[in-house]
Amino acid sequence: MQGKTAIITGGGSGFGRETAIKLAERGANISIVDVSKEQGNETVKLCKEIGVDAIFIEADVSKVEDVKRYVAETVERFGKIDMFFNNAGISGSGVLTLECPDDEFEAIVNVNLKGAFYGLKYVANEMLKTGGGSIVNTASLGGVVGIPTLGAYSATKHAIIGLSKTIAGEYGRENIRINAIAPGTNETPMVKAFPSEAIQAMAEAVPMGRLGQPHEVANVVAFLLSDDASYIHGAVISIDGGAAAL
Ligand SMILES: NC(=O)c1ccc[n+]([C@@H]2O[C@H](COP(=O)([O-])OP(=O)(O)OC[C@H]3O[C@@H](n4cnc5c(N)ncnc54)[C@H](O)[C@@H]3O)[C@@H](O)[C@H]2O)c1
Repeated sequence: MQGKTAIITGGGSGFGRETAIKLAERGANISIVDVSKEQGNETVKLCKEIGVDAIFIEADVSKVEDVKRYVAETVERFGKIDMFFNNAGISGSGVLTLECPDDEFEAIVNVNLKGAFYGLKYVANEMLKTGGGSIVNTASLGGVVGIPTLGAYSATKHAIIGLSKTIAGEYGRENIRINAIAPGTNETPMVKAFPSEAIQAMAEAVPMGRLGQPHEVANVVAFLLSDDASYIHGAVISIDGGAAAL
């Protein structure tokens, strides 16, 4: 990945940070997009310590003007975009779906679905101008099965898979590879914030009997973004200890 450039949304934490480190170890320059300045800058620092060039762009993926700006600033700095980890997302307060407050539902759609769509639209169009690239969209186990009390989240993650497959079908001949990942529950800051009994119950429900670790997702994302995955396109890859097999 020497000399290549990756944009990672939600790069300030969890899967985004782990993947940034993994790609930096392979020589890629990194553009971190996040709403959190502090966390985003910390990831940039970690990438620079590995020896690559990295920038932080403070942007909200749900705002189309911010998305256009993170694309433009990355191209201005690095010349082109080779890899895109379309990953920023939020979960929800864990209420029964028919009791989900309207504004919460809307906020989740804005970040998870609109944010993913805007990213795909503006990054992929930029890649089309410069000869192609590879993209990984973060869906979820909740994108392949329903998750009680996370209805809005699950709906947006199903939608991301729909977008990913459709765009893969439309642009497969243009040297752009697009895949989605469906991670099960992983011990990222998002999940560590849940009550410990809930975390324990989630681990017990997984065939492998444990939750995932962010680096186990980052390993797969780095592979999918790399040329080693040159014939994987339009796929949804589960990384869930067997949870989707039940
Ligand atoms: N952790 C899990 O178990 C799990 C499982 C399946 C899927 N996912 C998905 O993986 C992705 C990353 O999750 P994570 O667990 O690493 O979460 P995380 O909370 O550790 O990291 C998410 C990052 O996204 C940033 N972010 C949030 N809203 C944003 C916005 N509007 N614009 C830009 N940045 C924003 C946050 O500041 C944070 O740095 C999400 O899409 C999540 O839905 C997580």
